[in-house]
Amino acid sequence: MYRTKTCGELRLCNVNETVTLAGWVQKTRKFGGMLFIDLRDRYGITQLVFNREINETLQNEAEKAGREWVIQVTGSVSERSNKNPNIPTGDIEIIVSELTVLNPADTPPFTIETETDGGDDLRMKYRYLDLRRSVVRSNLELRHQMAIATRNYLNDKGFLEVETPVLVSSTPEGARDFLVPSRINPGEFYALPQSPQLFKQLLMVSGFDRYFQIVKCYRDEDLRADRQPEFTQIDCEMSFVEQEDILPLFEGMIRHLFKTVKGIDLQEFPRLSYAEAMRLYGSDKPDTRFGMQFVEIKDLTTGKGFGVFDNSEYVGAICAAGCAGYTRKQIDELTEFVKRPQIGAGGLIYVRYDADGGLKSSVDKFYSPDDLKLWAERANAKPGDLLLILCGKTEKTQKQLSELRLEMGNRLGLRDKNKFSCLWVVDFPLLEYDEELKRYFAMHHPFTSPKPEDIPLLESAPGKVRANAYDMVINGSEVGGGSIRIHNSELQQRMFSALGFTREQAQAQFGFLMNAFKYGAPPHGGIAFGLDRLVSIFAGLDSIRDCIAFPKNNSGRDVMIDAPSQVAPEQLEELHLKVDLKK
Ligand code: AMO
Repeated sequence: MYRTKTCGELRLCNVNETVTLAGWVQKTRKFGGMLFIDLRDRYGITQLVFNREINETLQNEAEKAGREWVIQVTGSVSERSNKNPNIPTGDIEIIVSELTVLNPADTPPFTIETETDGGDDLRMKYRYLDLRRSVVRSNLELRHQMAIATRNYLNDKGFLEVETPVLVSSTPEGARDFLVPSRINPGEFYALPQSPQLFKQLLMVSGFDRYFQIVKCYRDEDLRADRQPEFTQIDCEMSFVEQEDILPLFEGMIRHLFKTVKGIDLQEFPRLSYAEAMRLYGSDKPDTRFGMQFVEIKDLTTGKGFGVFDNSEYVGAICAAGCAGYTRKQIDELTEFVKRPQIGAGGLIYVRYDADGGLKSSVDKFYSPDDLKLWAERANAKPGDLLLILCGKTEKTQKQLSELRLEMGNRLGLRDKNKFSCLWVVDFPLLEYDEELKRYFAMHHPFTSPKPEDIPLLESAPGKVRANAYDMVINGSEVGGGSIRIHNSELQQRMFSALGFTREQAQAQFGFLMNAFKYGAPPHGGIAFGLDRLVSIFAGLDSIRDCIAFPKNNSGRDVMIDAPSQVAPEQLEELHLKVDLKK
């Protein structure tokens, strides 16, 4: 037997027991004739003691054990004179009588401690060592708990977990696909699924009624802190449901996760229409942990001789509470922030509402204090506050103001990781127009049902059609999204026409789905949550990478296994691929 106990379970009640432990050497300390080793495993750390006066040979052996050696010890549990209140096993130590080195180890390239000296790249290259650190491991433990709690909740509600294929066919909508060449079908490719969307709808046609799957999805997109090329969805679909059946059930799931995993009771989630979300926050995933909602002041600013505002479609302000004292330098920083190419504003205008009630702005030449007072009143500003104003084309300016709002939220410490603000965003537009490609794209996906009252607009005013689609947003992150689906092949055909597909193209891409719909498709709808995003929010992480065991870096590489990598020419030939490997 390698061990009788783990390194995390011994307490005062075990004193005088003889135990065998196995684990990794975290740290060695010498103190007079004594040698102390912190022995670590997944469950915790236990202090081992070797006493030269009792057994010199044993201590000499123990001294050889370096960091991360794998050892096994037998000894008796003893009460510590010098207790460590910071760890659960801090009241006891093991007086070691036998030591076996199970495996010596090279010195690790960084310290396996909470505060490690290893940089990001090094930790990713040696991710298996990084995963020994309890801070990293605890994120994966949390992930496991959340997956289990999800399965339990959905199982209790009658959902069946069904696996769907990983080798599927490529579809032109959505993100870019990862392709897999087929050896036995020359010139043909599988694609890795961006989501099991079509399969889950087919399962509804098959009568499965309630499906779920915790499933890997693959998207060849540019990476960000909340995006990985392979990520995990909690994917769900239900039959004979409307939006009003789906939202409460999945709000219940998220509530259940917060309750069971974090012990937090959440209020009912508010709902915001897409149009309101854009008007108040300039984003379809607003961070509602703090207010600072937009106010439109175009009408108050027009006709005073300030051409920039006069010629703008939209003039919007946010009120930064208590910031009237911002220095020139701080204002300049904010101006630089909004002018960065990623944000692209032309400039930033401010109004200081001084504590003594005076109003001063960067456009004093055009506006009197009385004018500014009206702006301040509309923004509910109080003496001591600062108004920040952007102007330009409506949508673009709202997005820029949204970035500024988030930046101010950060600066003012309003984005507390221990606070959770959840909401539903509903009534998304069905289609969005791509100016460059001069065509409509499905905002969610082509199977999303229009709101019945908007169906007549599908041909005449496609941009005005609202969808039966919804997103769940937590702390400014889109954690889930779904819709009621089209279950009628004729309506599906009209949707494809609005997207610019000919009947033949639609048939070639999605014929199997439209055919299936001819054989009795029930009304259905569903949702998918990003598990990685949910876990990272629960854990208060900055990037979803930290809750994925073996993530990709920002260039989509796994630097540990060195993927992607080149392959032998013979392998390419076998796959009927000709690749010019010359760079
Ligand atoms: P959608 O594309 O909105 O919907 O994806 C659902 C959820 O998956 C998460 N997500 C991601 N997480 C990490 N990295 C990524 N690259 C990534 N992309 C998406 C998000 C998102 O809310 N089939 C539909 C769902 C449906 O209609 O039922 C779908 O995939 O949290």
